[in-house]
Amino acid sequence: MSARPRVLLTRRWTAEVEQYLAERFDVTVNESDTPLDAAALTAAMQSQDAICPTVTDRIDRQLLAAPNRRVRLIGNYGVGFNHVDVEAAKEFGIRVSNTPDVLTDTTADLAILLMLMVSRRAGEGERELREGRWTGWRPTHLMGQGLAGKTLGLIGFGRIAQSTARKARLGLDMRIAYNSRRRAAADVEAEHQATYFDSVDELVAACDVISLHCPGGASTHHLISAERLRRMKSTALLINTARGPVVDEAALVEALSQGRIAGAGLDVYEQEPKVHPGLLALDNVVLLPHLGSATRETRTAMGMRVAENLEAFFAGRPLRDPVV
Ligand code: DGY
Repeated sequence: MSARPRVLLTRRWTAEVEQYLAERFDVTVNESDTPLDAAALTAAMQSQDAICPTVTDRIDRQLLAAPNRRVRLIGNYGVGFNHVDVEAAKEFGIRVSNTPDVLTDTTADLAILLMLMVSRRAGEGERELREGRWTGWRPTHLMGQGLAGKTLGLIGFGRIAQSTARKARLGLDMRIAYNSRRRAAADVEAEHQATYFDSVDELVAACDVISLHCPGGASTHHLISAERLRRMKSTALLINTARGPVVDEAALVEALSQGRIAGAGLDVYEQEPKVHPGLLALDNVVLLPHLGSATRETRTAMGMRVAENLEAFFAGRPLRDPVV
């Protein structure tokens, strides 16, 4: 019998990280690489010392309360942890860690990619070309809108939002505005030349592009509601690389199809991997399959960050990235 801690990876990780972990722990990998059901996760709670889930796993109170639980650490692969009931974990004395920092720039790049794709109608253009509908260059063909001099309104102003602000300001010559639960320090605002709005309603009405960077969960559910979509400019774009339920998807479909806002770029959805059929039918929305952190370098760095937390925990040292 192995004396090494037992660790479950609920999905396949990059080969480098799987190998690194296998050299240090008694690792079980879900070779099927499809989400484990509640029964499999419950069995893992009883047989493993740590579980390393992703956004596709639901680590709820019922699971954490599994009888004869052995798990002591949830080493989440990802920075967002709204799929883990952290209150229940705290109550049951189960530690939780996440993977901040290493995916900041990669995710911010994707927010910029979506902004450019939507504003320059790249998805529409590619579909037209691939479907053989392109009839050649003409002055009025697929005209988009420029971003230089426009105002980017960030909701949430953490690491990813600030990296997006930096790239948008220095790379695209945009102005920066933001709202967040806590106002940033004066030097941070100065660094980004960012204007603070203490009201989301006012921010969405004033900006040309709204990009979401707040956490998921009950406090931000449908933060972008039908009412807030109505407040946005008819030329405005909405970008979501945060969590799907932050946006009322049905209301967004309505706003986009009625031309109440000009476009949207989405990487996350209310019911992943299901996408609202109304979105699929629209041309003024760019839809990506939750690719925010999806580069080889970043996905390996995320795994290594989980590894650091596992190693610290089982060596009795403080977690590198404690959530609970
Ligand atoms: C993150 O890191 O939060 C990604 O969205 C995947 O969970």
